[in-house]
Amino acid sequence: MEKADSQMLVILGASGDLTTRKLIPALYELYIRNLLPENFVVLGVARTALTDDEFRQKQRDGILASQKELSAKDIRLNLFLECLFYVNFDTRDTAVYGVLKDRVNELQKRYLLPDNIIFYMATPPEMYEVIPVGLQKSGLTYSATGFRRIVVEKPFGTNLKSAQHLTRLLESIFDEHDIFRIDHYLGKETVQNILVLRFSNGIFEPLWNRNYVDYVEIISTETLGVENRGNYYETAGALRDMIQNHLLQLMAFIAMEPPATFDPESIRDEIAKVFRSLHHYTPEELQKQIVRGQYIAGNIEGEKVQSYRDEKNVDVKSVRETYVAMKLELDNWRWGGTPFYIYTGKRLAEKKTEIIIHFKSTPQQLFVGQCSGSSCNQLVIRVQPDESIALRFGLKVPGSGFEVRQVSMDFLYSSLSDKKLPDAYERLLLDVMLGDSTLYSRADAQEASWRFIDPIIDDWTKKGNEGLTFYPAGSEGPRNIGQLISLDEKPNFVRCKAIVK
Ligand code: BG6
Repeated sequence: MEKADSQMLVILGASGDLTTRKLIPALYELYIRNLLPENFVVLGVARTALTDDEFRQKQRDGILASQKELSAKDIRLNLFLECLFYVNFDTRDTAVYGVLKDRVNELQKRYLLPDNIIFYMATPPEMYEVIPVGLQKSGLTYSATGFRRIVVEKPFGTNLKSAQHLTRLLESIFDEHDIFRIDHYLGKETVQNILVLRFSNGIFEPLWNRNYVDYVEIISTETLGVENRGNYYETAGALRDMIQNHLLQLMAFIAMEPPATFDPESIRDEIAKVFRSLHHYTPEELQKQIVRGQYIAGNIEGEKVQSYRDEKNVDVKSVRETYVAMKLELDNWRWGGTPFYIYTGKRLAEKKTEIIIHFKSTPQQLFVGQCSGSSCNQLVIRVQPDESIALRFGLKVPGSGFEVRQVSMDFLYSSLSDKKLPDAYERLLLDVMLGDSTLYSRADAQEASWRFIDPIIDDWTKKGNEGLTFYPAGSEGPRNIGQLISLDEKPNFVRCKAIVK
């Protein structure tokens, strides 16, 4: 694989969890696979006072926690840690970023680095508008000879207005093509494989439309609760946290038209078109096509867990949703009339992310007991865990008569290679180092998705408690999910749920 030019990665918010659990272990993997640039330095920035050595020690622990078989004395691990540095100052004060500039200059000189810098904002979102200004004031955002890129973690805004505001601010400092809005779901192997499955095989394309697809399900359930992120989750909820970004992106990969070429802008054009064709709910549809829920105390894998309202930093009367099930439609020629159902929730029975394409049934049932309806023919893309793709169809049970049973032709990623699948952050970090924005979200797509999401949030804000249902932790979700199903004209939906479980 291609190697990026020598450069420096400045991680802002480097004392946090994301850096230690995800970013540094992903960089270490790239190092082991010899994919890091020839000359490469990581400079961590945060308010916490740490020396370079203390920062390295913290990151060593993070890498060791992610790779159980690795020894703390491993030579390569120690060589890698030597390229990590740290500087602390009050990042909230835009007047003091000169400290960062001095450290950057010193490291560039010491390691003969060209003037290429990526700034990664791994901070709480309230810093997203402060940091770029601080960087600009200190002169760090301009280079006559190299590049400047900025990576912004989600959430990118909390509604359309704030997303537009943030984009305007960033675009006043960086070029749009140097702004990388990260969505870690797009770095997942199976998600990228949706593009390959669809656009490198002739057999699926003729079926990939409203004429042959009955409906599509996108499911992403978690057993985890909000952990120590109560503060953030109270302002986000499942709709903003999972649907506005991750799950709408999955939907876009399934629904997009084939791009003219495989370059970032052609692909991102097609994704933006999907977001623009999202059918906006009428007031009546807002009532019927969305179910929101919140977990109460229950059991997960035999352990008692508390209710959402009892979590740290959560209001005891919170109406924040931890579960959403919704029926979406796309107003376009390929998908008009084909529903997409999205479900996501915390503290559910199982952790899984899966996309199921349900194909339409045969026009006539020739066999007694034939599995009927769209539940018979499915293409199941299992994003995680046990990454796989399965095609399900009916076949005859051996023996007399014509008893039909659903069988599954499975492809497991583990059978393709015994190497562990790369973490999403590995792919995404490598891409930003190479300047490839294919798997990063563009401003127009973000804005189109907020235009769809905003009216839902406004409706819920008006309603408060009304319409919020509760489900025990460890269950399948709110009981009134049946409402969504039974109000739907698609009777097959109920059958399919049984199979999915
Ligand atoms: C994050 C959300 O973006 O994605 C979390 O903020 C969620 O709330 C996580 O738990 C899920 O990611 P994954 O990769 O574990 O499915």
